[in-house]
Amino acid sequence: MKVGVPKETAEGERRVALVPDVVRKLAAKELEVIVEAGAGAEAKLLDNAYGDAGATVGGDVWSADVIVKVGAPSEEEIAKVGSSSVLIGFLGPLTRPQTTSALASAGATAFAMEAIPRISRAQSMDALSSQSNVAGYKSVLLATEHLGRFLPMMMTAAGTIPPAKVLVLGAGVAGLQAIATARRLGGQVTGYDVRAAVAEQVQSLGATFLELEAGKGAEGEGGYARELTDEEKAAQQQELTDKIATFDVVITTALVPGRPAPRLVSAEAVEGMKPGSVIVDLAGEAGGNCELTQPGQVVVEHDVTIVSPLNIASSMPEHASSLYARNVQAVLELIVDDEGALHLDFDDEIVAGACIVRDGEIVHEAARKTVEEAG
Ligand code: NAI
Repeated sequence: MKVGVPKETAEGERRVALVPDVVRKLAAKELEVIVEAGAGAEAKLLDNAYGDAGATVGGDVWSADVIVKVGAPSEEEIAKVGSSSVLIGFLGPLTRPQTTSALASAGATAFAMEAIPRISRAQSMDALSSQSNVAGYKSVLLATEHLGRFLPMMMTAAGTIPPAKVLVLGAGVAGLQAIATARRLGGQVTGYDVRAAVAEQVQSLGATFLELEAGKGAEGEGGYARELTDEEKAAQQQELTDKIATFDVVITTALVPGRPAPRLVSAEAVEGMKPGSVIVDLAGEAGGNCELTQPGQVVVEHDVTIVSPLNIASSMPEHASSLYARNVQAVLELIVDDEGALHLDFDDEIVAGACIVRDGEIVHEAARKTVEEAG
């Protein structure tokens, strides 16, 4: 089986779908990897490293049996995928109906990394988690960059400085990593989530769990949070507004799959924060958790800096690519037989769950609904 690795073309995308270490492992399993020249350059993974690992550098990556990408393909790229190859990547089944439609029109077969079922057997393929980990870590570094204060307590000859107070809203993979990172830097950390099961995880990281009355225990399907009702949302925002004023840093990571990001930090809450405080909003791509967030920008409102990075994992391209590549490796191992040939077993829960388009037909229910809603 031939695996093609194109250079990512989306603006600001610095990751690459396979790294030399993983290429070496695939080559040992008789897979032939073709890498576009310069594909790993932004992640400081040079062509000769891919060559040394057993890849062919240069050549037509788009005619491979399986094409592995990080981000969704452009229209021109979809035309190159055609009907004879399989495409794997973050394809945005719930957010990019135009990509799903174009893949279907091209007669493609495509697997979305976001759609891989979150079951134990698929943990090694969970790219949402691997990239959220990077995002959670980096969000704390971004906060410290904009904060004119220390995070840890400092006892110096010039006096003692108390630790900064950090609040992390949403304690999924990114939020828990943000909590752990802020703790490592010595911040006094509080975490909050609507899923009650999370309290123990927050506490096990040495942080305090913030309990609110509104939206308590709002578990939905598959272990995800459900969207709150309008009344719950208003009550939650009000309760949070009172709490937020006491924190120096607020990192927000709350998401509900396929829905706009819940608004947790109102303009009033921002106004109530101390001058010099920082908000890092990781939910910018879904509209933001803070009312004053401008996705992709750094703004200062009421003397509070609000940072909303987009595609934050791409800002740490080396490790983000390395983790993503291992996720992709696990997917490739699932769809290759013992002789190294492509074998798609649609009776397998993971193969069936992750497939959004099969031979031009949209087979993923939520992706199909998203296309229908977009008209
Ligand atoms: P996510 O990135 O989709 O969302 C982030 C967090 O925001 C979640 O913890 C969610 O509960 C929270 N949230 C949503 N609405 C909120 C609101 N109004 N107020 C406060 N918080 C709100 O989450 P992620 O990291 O994808 O994890 C979600 C679920 O998936 C969890 O149950 C997690 O345990 C599960 N999971 C399962 C995995 C597996 O089995 N392989 C791997 C990773 C996560």
